[in-house]
Amino acid sequence: MNVSEAVRRRMSARAFLEKPVATETIVRALEKAARAPSGGNLQPWHVAVVNGDRMSEFRAIMEKRLAGEAIDGGETAEYAVYPPNLKEPYRTRRFQNGEEMYATLGIAREDRPARLKRFAENFRFFGAPAAIFCFVDRVMGAPQWSDLGMFLQTFLLLLTEEGLDTCAQECWAAYPRTVAEFCGMDRELMLFCGMAIGYRDETAAVNRMVSTRAPASEWLKVL
Ligand SMILES: Cc1cc2nc3c(=O)[nH]c(=O)nc-3n(C[C@H](O)[C@H](O)[C@H](O)COP(=O)(O)O)c2cc1C
Repeated sequence: MNVSEAVRRRMSARAFLEKPVATETIVRALEKAARAPSGGNLQPWHVAVVNGDRMSEFRAIMEKRLAGEAIDGGETAEYAVYPPNLKEPYRTRRFQNGEEMYATLGIAREDRPARLKRFAENFRFFGAPAAIFCFVDRVMGAPQWSDLGMFLQTFLLLLTEEGLDTCAQECWAAYPRTVAEFCGMDRELMLFCGMAIGYRDETAAVNRMVSTRAPASEWLKVL
């Protein structure tokens, strides 16, 4: 598989088979992905891999959270996933993405309980057997967060090459303490995102959705 093929094949899978994933495969891809560039070569990424028994443990904790049992002292999101009052054209793009997904699933706009239930699947990693969480030192700013993006996309493509599927998940920003405590991360590290890892269920409707992209004319200027 060449890079173009991997870029084409990668998509956010939101339903996975139970088929297990070897931790070594994930670790190997992470080590390779660390060749990603970063400003000043800071390599600001910190990653925890969750798989096997540890995944079962984590799932049990998350079931309690989803049932309303909060972590001691409560939990608040450490960063806002989107800017307040998201402006155009981003607002429409975000809206369309959600609408396309719910339409693919046959969930009506007014069916809020069904939408919430669907959203909660995020916190089960959509059934994926493995996951990573990516953290960054709190002192880092936007340039280093962009380095995380470089690293994570490299990782996504390497997993694609391995025949694996993924979904990056910033929804985990809502559970920073649960995740950081489970992973035993230093408080100096802040959770950026999670990522579900496994084999996509080709029969699931949600995985048939092909996300759209704005035409280059909306963002490209060739001088
Ligand atoms: C950093 C990051 C965080 C994301 N968080 C979520 C998430 O929490 N839940 C989700 O279902 N998709 C999430 N996505 C997936 C995006 O919705 C998806 O990448 C986008 O709609 C384009 O679709 P594609 O990945 O299938 O090409 C995230 C993607 C990125 C890059």
